[in-house]
Amino acid sequence: MLLRGKVVLVTGGARGIGKEIIMKVLSEGASVHYCDFEEGPFKKDMDAAAKNGASVTFHSANITDEDQVKKLIGDITASGSLDVVVNNAGITRDGMVFRMPLDQWESVIKVNLTGAFLVSREASAFMALKQKSGSIVNMASVVGQMGNAGQTNYSASKAGLIGFTKSLAKETAKRNVRVNAVAPGFIETAMTDKLPEEVKASYVNAIPLGRMGQAEDIANTVLFLACDLSSYITGQVIRVDGGLVM
Ligand SMILES: NC(=O)c1ccc[n+]([C@@H]2O[C@H](COP(=O)([O-])OP(=O)(O)OC[C@H]3O[C@@H](n4cnc5c(N)ncnc54)[C@H](O)[C@@H]3O)[C@@H](O)[C@H]2O)c1
Repeated sequence: MLLRGKVVLVTGGARGIGKEIIMKVLSEGASVHYCDFEEGPFKKDMDAAAKNGASVTFHSANITDEDQVKKLIGDITASGSLDVVVNNAGITRDGMVFRMPLDQWESVIKVNLTGAFLVSREASAFMALKQKSGSIVNMASVVGQMGNAGQTNYSASKAGLIGFTKSLAKETAKRNVRVNAVAPGFIETAMTDKLPEEVKASYVNAIPLGRMGQAEDIANTVLFLACDLSSYITGQVIRVDGGLVM
C-alpha cells in the first residue's frame, strides 16, 4: 500500500473530488483528516474504507478563518505526523466581470487562494521545520491556465494558486517538502452539475477523449503526487483534462 501509516489532510472533503480523494488514500492505507462545513453523507463509507487501524476524522473548519485553520493543523499535529495536505476546497461564483460586485470577486479569491495559503502556511511550518518531510497538493484548474469567460474571479484564483505552488515548492524543497498542483478539466461533480446542459455539451465536444472526467481521475493523480512514486517531482502542475489543453 502506497500510503500505509501516513497521515493525510484533505480540505473540502465532504463531497465531490475531495470525498473521492479520501476514499482513494484510505484504500492505500492512510489515516485521513478532512475539514468542511459539515461532515457530509459519506463519513460511514469512509470509516468502512479505513484499513489496518487507520482512521478518518472530520473537523468542522472554514479554511478562510485563520484561527480555525491554526486549530485544525494544531489538533492534527498534536497527535503525531502530517505527511500530505490536499488543498481541495474551492468555490465558483460565476459572472461577467462588468457586472461583478466586489464581494463576488473577493469571496472566490478568499476561499480558493487565501484559504490554501492559510492551510499551507500552518502545514508547511510543521512539515518543513519540524517533520522535515511532506507533500502538499493544490487543486488548481485548467481555467487557471487557459481562462474562461464568466470565470475571471475563479481563473484568477487558480492561476494565483499555480504561482503559489511553484514559489512554495522553491521555499520548501531543501527541507524535503514537495508542493505540486493538479489542474482538472471538466469533472462531473456538484460544481459542474449546475451548468446548463448546452454548456456541458460544448465542453464535452472540445475534449479529445470525448467525456467529462470523473472525480476518481483526479484522485488517482493526487495519490501519485502524495506518495513516494513522485518523490523527484516538485513545483509542477499536472493537467487531468482528457486532452482539453495541450
Ligand atoms: N468539478 C470540476 O470540474 C473542477 C474542475 C477544476 C477544478 N476543480 C476544483 O476541485 C476542487 C473540488 O471541486 P468539486 O467539484 O469537488 O467541488 P464541490 O463544490 O463538489 O466540493 C467542494 C467542497 O469544498 C467545501 N468548501 C467550500 N468552501 C470551503 C471553506 N471555506 N472551508 C472548508 N470547506 C469548504 C464545500 O463545502 C464542498 O464540500 C475545487 O478546488 C475546484 O475548484 C473542480
